Amino acid sequence: MIGCGDIANLNVLGYLCSKDTELVAVCDTDMARIGKKLERWGLRTTNVYTDFKLMIDREELDIVEILTPHHLHYPMTEYCASAGVPGISVQKPLAHTITDCEKIIRVCKKKNVKLKLYENFRFYPPFLKAKELLNSGIIGELLNFRINTIAPGGPAMNVDLKSLGWRRKFETCGGGPWIYDDGIHKFSLALWLMNQERFEEVYAWIDYFSVVMDSPSYILWKYPTTDSDYPEKFGSMEFTLAPNLYYPNNYYHCDEFIEISGTKGIMWLNQCTGGGNFLSKTPQYPPIVIYIDGKVKKFGEDLPRDWRYSFINSTKHFISVMKEGGEPICTGEQGRDLCICGKLPYISNQNNRIAYWNEVTSENEVDKSCIIEEPQEIDIKGFTRYNRNVRRDLRKGINQGLVNTEFKYHYEK
Ligand SMILES: NC(=O)c1ccc[n+]([C@@H]2O[C@H](COP(=O)([O-])OP(=O)(O)OC[C@H]3O[C@@H](n4cnc5c(N)ncnc54)[C@H](O)[C@@H]3O)[C@@H](O)[C@H]2O)c1
Repeated sequence: MIGCGDIANLNVLGYLCSKDTELVAVCDTDMARIGKKLERWGLRTTNVYTDFKLMIDREELDIVEILTPHHLHYPMTEYCASAGVPGISVQKPLAHTITDCEKIIRVCKKKNVKLKLYENFRFYPPFLKAKELLNSGIIGELLNFRINTIAPGGPAMNVDLKSLGWRRKFETCGGGPWIYDDGIHKFSLALWLMNQERFEEVYAWIDYFSVVMDSPSYILWKYPTTDSDYPEKFGSMEFTLAPNLYYPNNYYHCDEFIEISGTKGIMWLNQCTGGGNFLSKTPQYPPIVIYIDGKVKKFGEDLPRDWRYSFINSTKHFISVMKEGGEPICTGEQGRDLCICGKLPYISNQNNRIAYWNEVTSENEVDKSCIIEEPQEIDIKGFTRYNRNVRRDLRKGINQGLVNTEFKYHYEK
């Protein structure tokens, strides 16, 4: 594992649960952080490194997990692939540029590496069930997809503020922390659940209310036209900042709500990141609700609704691909296409026009015609003000008695 930051806490779960794998070595430039993590994960015999190249040279690894800032994904993948690591899993987004995505795909093909883009939302149990229902044609031909990501005030998992340093810079992140970073998951659902491979056109409004975060924002797209028997297919994605909304969550301070309309019915998917919190325990929020034939039906209440299962299932799938063969989910090409989805809203917003799929390419990055721009100088005082606002109402919420349970490993008290 390269990178022992926040997401490593969740990526490690699939390996801790697996009888087929052992976490033999971890690397992070911050040794103190490695120590704290291994203590928390209950691993005492794992080898530790501060130089990933040394780890790759010394260890004989079947799988490497790359869990670092986005601009490091290509150089790290390139080194691992060239050193003969047969399986490489790169946390989303595949890279900060399309150029680096193409280079990752190329080097992994050349060295015969199984390359996985780690996008865990596709493995969240209620979403797997939703996909099965959609594939059975339960709501007919799929026409429209909507997803709202709401970012309430918390309380939520403790996130290291240091990681905001690389996330807020486009040159290391590739875009902003919501649309280009978190948004990759949502674009993945917008394609996978709708049986689509790409968008044709995108239009977006992006605000920077908190100064650092690229939201609230609203993104609209049209899927490619395929069948003239049905109306054109569209989708939309919203990022809503609600700093004063008290909403306890075991993981990141956000949650997702999806609506899919088809020719025969409508499907609502309630929650993902927040799955299993107090809202899931209310009868009003079953994970899947469908309106068909004049009736409202519920599905998936028996499934595990904790977000951690999306990570466990995703890792389990890759281990089986490495042992038994098959294609990783997602492939490198799918990873690159998700990065294109993630870039298009900024191109649209900065030029105040529709952005087209074919304009985001590595060639256009070289001639700088599809470079996305940093929105404005960061006024850190604005962000401090925003956080103060969040904390004020967090205290009010705690007084109302809705408590948050911190994410814990099974043996942690
Ligand atoms: N799947 C998800 O839901 C999800 C959620 C959050 C983050 N992510 C992704 O996971 C990746 C990491 O994000 P994070 O939130 O854990 O970031 P983070 O900043 O918390 O952690 C990154 C870690 O990488 C280490 N690092 C930096 N340079 C290094 C180097 N040269 N060698 C070794 N270690 C180095 C840092 O010290 C840090 O510990 C990103 O790709 C991010 O988009 C995915």
